[in-house]
Order: sequence, then structure tokens, then C-alpha cells
Amino acid sequence: MAKLKTYFVCQTCGSKSPRWLGKCTVCNEWNTFMEETATLEENDHGRTLIKSKTTTPGKPIALNQIDGSKSNRFASKIAEFDRVLGGGIIPESSILIGGDPGIGKSTLLLQIAGAVASSSNKKCLYVSGEESSEQIHHRAKRLCVDTSEIYIYPETNVFAIVETVQKYNPDLIIIDSIQTLYFPELNSTPGSLSQVREASARMIYMAKREKIPVFLIGHVTKDGMLAGPMALEHMVDVVIYFEGEFQRNYRIVRATKNRYGSTQEMGIFEMTGHGLIEIPDASQFLLDSRDSKNSGSTVTAVVEGYRPVLLEVQALVTPTTYGIAQRRSTGLDVNRLALLLAILEKRLGLALSKYDVFLNLVGGLKIIEPGIDLAIAASIISSFRNIIVDPQTLFFGELGLSGEVRAVAQFEKRISEAVRLGFKQILMPEQNLRREHDNNFKSTQIIGLKNLYELSDFLK
Ligand code: TYD
Ligand code: MG
Repeated sequence: MAKLKTYFVCQTCGSKSPRWLGKCTVCNEWNTFMEETATLEENDHGRTLIKSKTTTPGKPIALNQIDGSKSNRFASKIAEFDRVLGGGIIPESSILIGGDPGIGKSTLLLQIAGAVASSSNKKCLYVSGEESSEQIHHRAKRLCVDTSEIYIYPETNVFAIVETVQKYNPDLIIIDSIQTLYFPELNSTPGSLSQVREASARMIYMAKREKIPVFLIGHVTKDGMLAGPMALEHMVDVVIYFEGEFQRNYRIVRATKNRYGSTQEMGIFEMTGHGLIEIPDASQFLLDSRDSKNSGSTVTAVVEGYRPVLLEVQALVTPTTYGIAQRRSTGLDVNRLALLLAILEKRLGLALSKYDVFLNLVGGLKIIEPGIDLAIAASIISSFRNIIVDPQTLFFGELGLSGEVRAVAQFEKRISEAVRLGFKQILMPEQNLRREHDNNFKSTQIIGLKNLYELSDFLK
């Protein structure tokens, strides 16, 4: 005898509870529990959840008999996006695209569908649960995409989608969005964690079986009211996040998981009236708005994936007016900032605990690589002493706790990017230079630093 059972599921971490809870005891998030229902069936071992009746047992295949030729990549011809994917789209891959609502996910994927259709004549099925066919038609017209091979399919039922895919056999599937998908065997509402997880699992399985790449669009909301892409990250092959600042029009696409390539690559786009436009020269773009006539501004070179990028680091150091000194940071982990401030205070004797420190990595990039440390220290010293740093100077290097400047990886790439953009002076770890015997950059002076004291002397 089948019986309905209700329980509550945390939409953030998926933990279950028989009662509603205000705060999840597992992930400590507030107001994340939603009621869900499941059908239970009595059997010899008591009650268990009904399993899908459509399961058919598979057959193991010897590893050396697997034909790998079917999984050759094909390029989307949007170079910034292909690079993030690791060189193109792999058939049978499932790619999750997460980001805030309105950031441009649907726009990007419609452009990709158009680019794939026009460059390699591939058929794309765009499953839309959010927008009507007319809305997508208008958008496609505005974006000037090639619509000849794009098929719009307004559907949310997972079984209907699977059937249509088998019938039409497209070369690319876009699901917009996972939060609208509906898996009829579950009684919970679309958008709840169990629906999103179950429905997406079906789509991922379909991608593998039919050897068709599936793009899953997922909205991310800060309050956790929508079960989000976080719950799916472990299931898909590639996770791509779409970031950016709404006020300014650029968007950054970055892979946080990639079973087929590096996770450090990023692509930069600008949102215009005709959709997203690629920005191949990221350094030039990020430094464009720079006003170098003020103290606290320096430039650094970070390496994201294979590509070096130059960006401006701004610091503002002002005397504290309300008791406790404030530390605010955009783009850098605030704990890392606190650590660098402690090193500066201890080693150089700067009384930073009496000053508020605000840090900004211009361009909205979030940087975790330690090569940025030296530029942050230089910006803070520059603002503290109110000294303007020569705008043609670039800093990179990692700082150790005793104030030593440590070697960084891929330093040649950083140097050549700085030389390309005409920087006259580069301050970098001496440890790197010891291994580098001659450098061919006649117009750029390279200065090796051993520790913070040398940086401090330079900024006098
Ligand atoms: P959209 O792709 O619908 O976002 P998402 O799918 O992530 O929710 O993007 C919507 C935003 O993009 C909207 O604010 C308008 C803007 N936009 C442009 O600026 N130019 C364009 O050509 C298009 C299509 C959208
Ligand atoms: Mg959308």
C-alpha cells in the first residue's frame, strides 16, 4: 500500500527533518526548510521510498574497448567561452551555468546556440521554462543571432523533454532554467531542492546516454529561497559562474569545476545593446578607467589559468573615527587583508590598527592567488604615506609572515604582459630572478625584492 509522507528539507544543504525548523542544524542557515512529500511503499523491510520504475540495468564495458572518438570537442566559436570550457564543448558533457538573476545567462546561451548553429551547422534545442517563444524570438532578433538551427521548446516536464530529445536528436541542449524543471514522480513544487536535484540528474543522465551536451542554467539567490546550483555542483562535469557588477557592464565567466580542463580560466564580456561582446584584451580593458594621480593606486599582474591579467589595486587608509578600525575589501578575502595588514604593522611599524583600511580590486574580479600581495602592500603603504606611485610601475609577489617576498609561479608571463602594455618598472620577487639569468626587456627595468623593507624604501 502506497502512503504519502511529508517531511521538511533544507534548501541549502538538503538535510531532512520530520518537523519544520527555523535554523538548519547541519548548515546553520535560517529559514531554509520547505515541506516536501514522498510516496512510501510497504514491503518486507518496512517502508521505503518508491524507486523509479523506469530503471533498466546497464552493462559494464571493458575500458580498452570504449570508443573515445565520439567525445571530440567542438568549438562554440565564442573564444572567451571556449577557453573557459577548456577548448570547446564536449558532447555528453553537462555544464551548469550559475549566476544572479538578470546577469545575462540566457543572453549568453542564446548567443552560443547561434554561434554553434552558424559555424558548424549544429541543431540546438532551447528548452525554456521561463520565457515565452515570442520573448526569445525578440531577443534573438536584437542579438542578431543565426536562428536557423535553434528550436525553442517551452516545456518543464522532465519526461516530455527526454522524449523530445530522443525524437529530434539535437546536437546541443539548453535548459533555461533548472529551477523551472518538474519531475512528476515527486510531489514537491518546482524549484525545491528535491525537484531541482532529481530533474537535473535526469538531464545529466540524458546527456551521457544520448551523447549530447546539456547546458543547465541555474539562478543563484542570496537568501537561499531558490534551491540553487550549489546542490548540483558535484553532479555535473563543468560548473561555470557568471559574475559581474550590474552598474558597470562587464561580465566575467569563470569555471569553478571542469572535468575537461583548467578551472582557473576566465572569460570577460561586455553587456551591450546587442548582447555580450567578447573582450580579448582583458588587461587593457581593466586598466582603461585608471586615474593614477592619486595615492593608494598600484597595478599588479595576476595569472588566471594560462592568461596573465593586469589590474589596478586601490587602497584607502584613513584615521579611525569610531573606536574599532574597519577593514573592508572588494575582490580580496578580508581575512587575507587582515593578515597583510598585520605583517605591515609588525615588520614596518606602521600603526595601521588606528586606521580604517578599504581595499578595492578594480574590475570586480575576485582574486585568490597570492601573487597579488606585493601590490596590496604597496597600495596600503602608498595611501598611508600619501605618496603617488609612478603609474608605469607594476608589482607582483607573495608576502610571507616574516615580511619576505616569495617567488610566484608563471612570472615570465606576468613580465611579458607588463612589457606589452608599456610598463617601465617591475618590482617582483628576487627569488624568481635568481633563476632567470638574462632578460630581454631593454625598455623595462626589473627590480628584485627580498623583503618588505626594500619595498618600503622604494616607496619613500
Ligand atoms: P538575461 O540573459 O535575461 O539574464 P538571466 O538569464 O541571467 O536572468 O539578461 C537580462 C539582462 O541583460 C537585462 O537586464 C537586460 C540585459 N540585456 C542587455 O543589456 N542587452 C541585450 O542585448 C540583452 C539581450 C539583455
Ligand atoms: Mg534567463
